[in-house]
Amino acid sequence: MESLAIKTKLNTLTVCLTLALAGMLAGCHDDDDDDHQEESPPSQVKDAAYYQKMAKEAAAKMSIEEKLNMIMGPGMNMGNGDVQITNLKNDVSGVAGYINGVKSDKLDIPATKLADGPAGLRINSTRSGSSETYYATAWPIGSLLASSWDTQLVAEVGKAMGEEIKEYGVDFILAPGMNIQRNPLNGRNFEYYSEDPLLSGKIAAAMVDGVESNQVGTTIKHFVANNSETNRNSIDTLVSPRAMREIYLRGFQIAVEESQPWAVMSSYNKLNGTYTNERRDLLTDILRNEWDFKGLVMSDWFAGTPKLTAWKQFKAGNDLIEPGGEMEALKASYDKGDITEADVTVNVEHILSQVFQSPSYNNYAANNKPDLEQHRALARQAAAESMVLLKNDGQALPLTPRLKLASFGVSQIETIKGGTGSGQVNNESTIMLAEGLQQQYSVDESLTAFYRDYYAQNKVEHPGFVSSIPSYFTCEDPAVDVSVIESAAQNNDAALITIGRIAGEGVDRTNTRGDYLLTENELNLIKNASDAFHAAGKKVVVVLDVSAIVDTTEWADKVDAILLSYLPGQEAGHAITDVLSGAVNPGGKLAQTIPQYYADVPSATTFPGKDLNGDGTPDEIDYNDDIYVGYRYYTTFSKPVAWPFGFGLSYTTFAYDGATVESNTLSNGAKGAVTLSVSVTNTGSVAGKEAAQVYISAPEVKLKKPALELKSFSKTDSLQAGANQKLTFTIPAKTLASFDPQKNQWIVEPGTYKAWISPSSDVAGRDPVTFNVSEEIVVSNTTPDALALPAGVNPADFVTVSQ
Ligand code: BGC
Repeated sequence: MESLAIKTKLNTLTVCLTLALAGMLAGCHDDDDDDHQEESPPSQVKDAAYYQKMAKEAAAKMSIEEKLNMIMGPGMNMGNGDVQITNLKNDVSGVAGYINGVKSDKLDIPATKLADGPAGLRINSTRSGSSETYYATAWPIGSLLASSWDTQLVAEVGKAMGEEIKEYGVDFILAPGMNIQRNPLNGRNFEYYSEDPLLSGKIAAAMVDGVESNQVGTTIKHFVANNSETNRNSIDTLVSPRAMREIYLRGFQIAVEESQPWAVMSSYNKLNGTYTNERRDLLTDILRNEWDFKGLVMSDWFAGTPKLTAWKQFKAGNDLIEPGGEMEALKASYDKGDITEADVTVNVEHILSQVFQSPSYNNYAANNKPDLEQHRALARQAAAESMVLLKNDGQALPLTPRLKLASFGVSQIETIKGGTGSGQVNNESTIMLAEGLQQQYSVDESLTAFYRDYYAQNKVEHPGFVSSIPSYFTCEDPAVDVSVIESAAQNNDAALITIGRIAGEGVDRTNTRGDYLLTENELNLIKNASDAFHAAGKKVVVVLDVSAIVDTTEWADKVDAILLSYLPGQEAGHAITDVLSGAVNPGGKLAQTIPQYYADVPSATTFPGKDLNGDGTPDEIDYNDDIYVGYRYYTTFSKPVAWPFGFGLSYTTFAYDGATVESNTLSNGAKGAVTLSVSVTNTGSVAGKEAAQVYISAPEVKLKKPALELKSFSKTDSLQAGANQKLTFTIPAKTLASFDPQKNQWIVEPGTYKAWISPSSDVAGRDPVTFNVSEEIVVSNTTPDALALPAGVNPADFVTVSQ
C-alpha cells in the first residue's frame, strides 16, 4: 500500500501562490512583487528553491534590526497587550507564539501565528469582541492514532486538522510530537506515536502531509532525545551515537525525508552535554546537510538559556527562539560580535522561505467555519478503528446491542478525551462513555447514577499550568460494596469496567497505585465483578481509557475482554461503544509493548534520571538500554511480555499465506531494495482490516543486532469475510542499514537475512523467508563524530543492556 495518499501538497501550493503573485488574492506584500510576477510565469512550480530565492531577496531588503526582530520571537503573549508583535494582522486568541513580521517602505510581511498541538488545534474558543465560538476538534491522541498502523487514516485526520488550522487563521501547528516512547512512564507519551522509529516516522510523515495539504505548516517535535519530563528544562541525556541514529533520530529522519515539514522544534533537554538547540552537529550537519531539511528550526518555549546564549542557538541552526522576548540580550551579543549579520541572515532566510508559503503572508481570509460536523464523524471513526483489543476470550465482545449493561467506573462519567498541557484542545463537547452506551445499550441506571453522584461529590480540580490552559478534573474510583456488584450481576447481562488515567506535560508518571498500577479499589472491583458475573455465567469487559499503558499483569486473567481505547478524543463515548457493540471492528495494534512488570522495562533502572547535585531532581539520564528499546529488548533477551509490540485482536481472523521474496536488487548497493509480499485472507465471519508487519533479523558481522526490527508494514483495505488481498513491502537498503559508529556510516552487512511477515512482533511458530546480501553496502557516510558523548564518557560507562 502507498504510504500516503495525499500528494497534492505541492500542486495546490503552486496554484495558490501563483494566484497570490498574480495579485488575484488581496494584498501584495513586497514592493517588488511585480518583479516576481515578471520573473515567474504563472506556470512556474513554486518549489523549495523558489521560496529560498524569494527569501534571499527579501532578506537583502531587511535591516539588521528587522532581522534580529524576526529570529527572536516577540515574547509570551498572554493576551493583555503585554508584548508587541511586529505587523500582526488578524490575531488569533490562544496561539502559543508568533514570528515577528516586517513593515517598512520595502517590505510588508505580516506576523506568523504558531499554535499547539498534537491532538488538535489549541486556540481559545472565544475571542474578546466577538460572539462567535472557535472550537477545534479534539482528535484521538497520537498513541491511539499510531495504533491504527494506517497512514491513510492518519493523513485524513491530518487533512481535517489542517483545515481547522487554516480556517481559524493559524499558520503553523506545533505538532506532530514524535519522540520515542522509551519508557511507559514518560508523562507526554500520549502525544507521541511509538517505541519504534519506523512506525513513528511513517505515521508522522502521513500527519505532516495531511495537515500541509491545506498550505499550513507543521512543526515536528521535540528534536531530540526528549523522552521524559522530569527536570525537562535542563536534564542532560547521555546516549550513544548508534542509539541516537537508529532509535531517536530515525523517525525524525523519515518524516523529514518523506514529507519535508515546514518546521522542526528543538527540544528542552541537553544531549550529551549540550542543549539540543545549541548543537550545530544536530541542527545543521545532520538535519540540513545530511537529511536535506529545507524548513525552519524553532526552539521549544523558553528552552535552554536564551537570555545568556541566544546567539549560540542561532549559530547552531536554531533559526527562531520562542516565545522570544530577549532582544536586549541578543543585541548585546550582536554588538559584541558573538554573532554576525551573515549568521543571522541564514536564520532569516530559513524562516522566510516558510513564512512566504503561509496563509498570513498570502492574505488568506480565514472563514472561521471549518467543517466541525464532518470532523466529528472522522474523529469517531479514527478513534474506533485504532483501538486495540488485547483480550477477547470466548468472544466476549462484541456485546450485542440493547443488552443490559452494568457499567462500573467513574471514567464513564468523566471519560478522558486527551492529555493535559499544551497538547489539550478546546473542543465544544466531549461524549462521555455513559452517554455513548445509552445510545446502543440498556444501561443499569442506578449503577451509573451512583457513579455520577460520587464523581460530582469527589472530583478534584487541577488548574492548568498556565492561565490559557483550563483546569481538568480527576476522581479516584470508590470502593463498591460486594452486595451492589452481586445485585448488578443478577440484573444485567454483562459487566463493563472502565479504568481511567490522565497525564500531561511537565510531569512523569510513577510506578505506583493510582498511576501505572491499578488502585486497591480498582483491583477489588475487577475481582468482585468477575466473581459475581462469572458465577452468573456473564462476561466482564475492561476498557482502558488511559493516556499510556498501565499494568495488566495483576488482573488481566480475571476478565474476559480488554479494550485499550487510550484517550479517544472528543467522540470517546461513541467510539468506545462502537467497538463494544461491533459497529466498528477494531483494527488497532500496539505501537508499544506492554511488559509483564514495569521492572522489566530496560530503562526502568535509569528513568527519570539521576540526581548529581543532591537537590532532589535528576540532572542526567543515561540511556542504558542503548539500541534495545521496547520490543528490540524483549525479543533479543527473550524476556516474556504481557502483550507484544504490534499485537491486537479483531472480531475476525486473518491467515497469511504465500510469504515470498518478490525481488532482491541489493546487489545494486545503496540504491537496491528487497521486495516481499504476502496474501492476507479474512478467515472469519465479519469484515475487518489487518495491519501486517515485516520484522527482520539481520546477520551480525561487525555490529550486534536486535533479534527483530520492524522494517515495513501495511494495512489491508476492509476485507469482507473470505476476501483476500496481496500486500507488497519494499524495503530499501537504507531502511535495512545499521549505524556503524566506528566509521560514521550506515551499512548493510553481508549475509542471510530472515524476514517474518507477521501479525505482531511475536513471530514464534512462523517461518521466515530469507534473502542474501553478498557484500557490505555502505548506504551513506555521516558527519564524523556528530553527537559524540562528552569527553571521557564511553557507552560502556552507562550502557547496561548489551549482548
Ligand atoms: C511544549 C511544546 C509546545 C510549546 C508551546 C512547550 O512547553 O514543550 O510542545 O509546543 O510549549 O505551547
